[in-house]
Amino acid sequence: MAKEAKIIIEGKEYTYPVIEGTEGEKAIDIRTFRKDSGYITYDEGYGNTGSCQSEISFINGEEGILRHRGYAIEDLAENSDFIEVAYLVIYGELPTVSERETFSQKIRNNAMIHMSMNHLFEGVPNDAPPMAILSSMLNSLGCYYKEYATNNPQHDLEHFDDAVAITMSKVRTIAAMTYRMSNGLPFIYPKMGLRYVENFLHMMFSNPYNEYSHEPEVAKALNVLLLLHADHEQNCSTSTVRMVASSGANLFPSVASAVCALWGPLHGGANMAVIQMLESIAASGDDGSQFIEDAKSGRHGKRLMGFGHRVYRNYDPRAKILGKYCDKLLEAIGIDDQLLTIARNLEQAALKDDYFVERKLYPNVDFYSGIIMRAIGIPLSMFTVMFAIGRMPGWIANWREVASNDKGRIYRPRQIYQGPTAPRKFLQMADRPEK
Ligand code: CMC
Repeated sequence: MAKEAKIIIEGKEYTYPVIEGTEGEKAIDIRTFRKDSGYITYDEGYGNTGSCQSEISFINGEEGILRHRGYAIEDLAENSDFIEVAYLVIYGELPTVSERETFSQKIRNNAMIHMSMNHLFEGVPNDAPPMAILSSMLNSLGCYYKEYATNNPQHDLEHFDDAVAITMSKVRTIAAMTYRMSNGLPFIYPKMGLRYVENFLHMMFSNPYNEYSHEPEVAKALNVLLLLHADHEQNCSTSTVRMVASSGANLFPSVASAVCALWGPLHGGANMAVIQMLESIAASGDDGSQFIEDAKSGRHGKRLMGFGHRVYRNYDPRAKILGKYCDKLLEAIGIDDQLLTIARNLEQAALKDDYFVERKLYPNVDFYSGIIMRAIGIPLSMFTVMFAIGRMPGWIANWREVASNDKGRIYRPRQIYQGPTAPRKFLQMADRPEK
């Protein structure tokens, strides 16, 4: 028997079909509910709303599972790299040798930015927030590549491969240029022969007289860090991409607005907050135990940053992987970071503490990512930009799903209006009483 759900309101019964996902998730399809009954459903924060059907990523928060296109995140982290996972997320399959080569080559060919974009950088104050720069620069790509940014989804999809290469490549160049500019350093051009992560490290840390060199573990850790961020279902920034794309907007403004959504401390900005928390614990001489007590009582508004997640009620699988790479990296480059010791103490204490156990609070992806970035030399102000580079494949894949959906409608939620009622009489300014 086909599954259905019944809703009874004011004595009237309405029947709706149940949609079942390939991994068994169930949803009631209430799209005609308002038309049928005059009611809408209320779900502020969308905690219980399925906004779309998607084939990209699957999360089981109870069991701590994350898969992209059916592949377990642990498998991808162990055996793949950021660019291969980006291809998988964007195109749905792992690339063959020639597909990988074509994809990489297209990204390499797009590593430079248009010369006149340099003037945009010149016009920005040195201490401008990197996320503001990144969002503006990504949006400005529509000025330089108008042929891929027509806002005619069918046309833009025909040029999708070019738009992907431009976006994936230039987000990296723009990030590195932002870092160089804010430190008063000359821009370093990308180098043709280097791979994605190595070229990023080169543009960040080389200088005209001295090429940056690094242990292989540095590139591996950065690759893993980026690929672990590649997609994460309908989070705040990805939902933003879909919202913007649903109006027919092209890829560039869609991902630029995602950067804005990512900026906030409850989303991408949490990776900075973890390091700030660990630094303040270190400065106070605490080994972490006092902070745990403060976070439990909520004293001074404290929370254990990098712990807890809206979806995961178990270990965030990405945190487990990053914790391992954190150890490997610090050992390989011979760094003894006091913050890692504090983070380990916090994790051990929290995992044994009734408060965290009862609330199912476990480390999330941000708990160890900051320690890895610090060890590589990426400054705190750039942490959320790194998240954006990593999340780009997921944003692109979600844009494509929306643009390709012929039956898709513009995203337009309803609201429950709670403002003044009845038409109010308009008073001329001179008649309005001073408050
Ligand atoms: N430290 C202390 N208590 C916490 C924490 C925490 N990190 N997280 C949740 N709680 C408590 C919360 O106070 C509540 O307690 P009570 O039931 O007594 O009122 C209970 O746990 C349940 O909270 P929740 O329903 O899980 O919270 P939420 O789903 O609204 O928030 C969260 C999820 C990630 C915003 C939250 O856990 C948090 O603020 N964590 C710290 C910030 C952080 O690490 N954010 C990164 C998220 S992962 C990256 C991303 O997705 O962008």
